[in-house]
Amino acid sequence: MRRALFPGSFDPLTNGHLDIIRRSAPLFDEMIVGVLNNVDKSPMFSVEERCDILREVLPSVHTAGCNMIVDSFSGLTAEFAKQKQVTAIVRGIRAVSDYEYELRMALMNRRLEPSIETVFLMAGEEFSYVSSTLMKQVFLLGGRVEGLIPELVESRMKEKKI
Ligand code: PNS
Repeated sequence: MRRALFPGSFDPLTNGHLDIIRRSAPLFDEMIVGVLNNVDKSPMFSVEERCDILREVLPSVHTAGCNMIVDSFSGLTAEFAKQKQVTAIVRGIRAVSDYEYELRMALMNRRLEPSIETVFLMAGEEFSYVSSTLMKQVFLLGGRVEGLIPELVESRMKEKKI
């Protein structure tokens, strides 16, 4: 059983995240999309709302028979990964600027849990500039974000703005 963890804040879920899920899912039998309950940040969506969005959107993503599970976690990603008995942590890399941060996380996670490898996928070029932070900023300032986030996320963001 090859089980992976795709951890993140997903505040909000973007089409870049979905692209990484769609492309990495065929490599695994099961994938846990782990939503970080980050108490330090004040998120746009609560962890429950982020999980609900993922549960609604994921069935429309072709995951090639990989069983998809949405779960939330607090604390260390490596600890959650171990608890869930995953073999790999999946992360996407967009640009060189992501590399240093991701390298540090991968090395630290490997130190914490040597049996779990981090697997990197290069982001799809059409999403290489898409981040949750940028999507929130552009949306809140009235810019167009369609095609970059799922329609459901856009409508949930509109509800927040009202
Ligand atoms: O989507 P993000 O915000 O880039 O995801 C970052 C995330 C959740 C993977 C990272 O912040 C994380 O792993 N946080 C949990 C706390 C932790 O394990 N910190 C040490 C990482 S080496």
